[in-house]
Amino acid sequence: MSAKTIAVLTSGGDAPGMNAAIRAVVRAGITSGLHVMGVRRGYNGLLTGDVFEMNLRSVSDIIHRGGTMLYTARSPEFNTKEGVQKAADMCRKLGIDGVVVIGGDGSFRGARDLTGAGIPCIGIPGTIDNDIASSEYTIGFDTAMNTAVQMIDRLRDTTESHDRCSVVEVMGRRCGDLALQTGIAVGATTILVPEVEYDFQRDIIERMRFTQKTGKKHFIIIVAEGVGHVSELADSIEKQTGIETRATVLGHVQRGGSPTLRDRVVASEMGYTAVELLNAGKSNRVVVMRKSEIVDLDITEALAMKRTFDVDLYNIAHKISI
Ligand code: F6P
Repeated sequence: MSAKTIAVLTSGGDAPGMNAAIRAVVRAGITSGLHVMGVRRGYNGLLTGDVFEMNLRSVSDIIHRGGTMLYTARSPEFNTKEGVQKAADMCRKLGIDGVVVIGGDGSFRGARDLTGAGIPCIGIPGTIDNDIASSEYTIGFDTAMNTAVQMIDRLRDTTESHDRCSVVEVMGRRCGDLALQTGIAVGATTILVPEVEYDFQRDIIERMRFTQKTGKKHFIIIVAEGVGHVSELADSIEKQTGIETRATVLGHVQRGGSPTLRDRVVASEMGYTAVELLNAGKSNRVVVMRKSEIVDLDITEALAMKRTFDVDLYNIAHKISI
């Protein structure tokens, strides 16, 4: 049986483009004859019944806004057997026949568990980290990269003016994609990611010394947050090279801001597809990008996939930043 009333929620860290996905779910749902409920603060809203009926105008004026109009949360209570049961009971009480969950891997595990408790769920990948193995792309990644590049371009001005080295930490949890793409785009001397082991002397000091001999006087080192402490690294670089070095942690600024065209478009297509799946009576699916196409996979299979890191691109980055 296909759903009559669906709900949409955002869960985990927010990401620019989540609003565009919510908008697509609401509009596609209502125009196909469904009632659409908005759930506030992720799975917490399903535990407490913090839901409201949405209409076509509830999602006006949000496609260009960062954050999530539904708010988001990480929900320790939902991550228990009892929590999942409580949320499923609340869905039944509120007449919710299906849920679209926009978030990362943790949110997908929740969607799988809620489906197991009898409420059909569809996941949409929303996280700036691009760390979901089953999808080439996650909503928010493009905006976060562009934000990081804008920030580092500013940093470059002052780094260059002072003949300094800047060690910059970018987000990504345990994934180096944000660091790799950003590092290439800003012409970083070295990019450190959790997926590739590095040697301090060979990959940082020797590269700096080599390029210094060719006339380079300022340096940008990009470090993925999963690699470790940028201030310690900056101190060690300064001690070894004598070059004044500063550490900068970009932090949560990377999670905000108006989504780029790519994030708006991908989010819109994924949101629409999620509703089509529920209308077709499907559940426990995740909407992903594979070979640049939007397709759907079983959530359990998607969660079992292993991420691959683009080592070729990583090697290219280091060959040309010299
Ligand atoms: O998953 C998105 C992300 O911003 C990661 O890059 C980062 O590790 C984490 O969330 C930070 O989480 P919080 O907002 O809870 O500090």
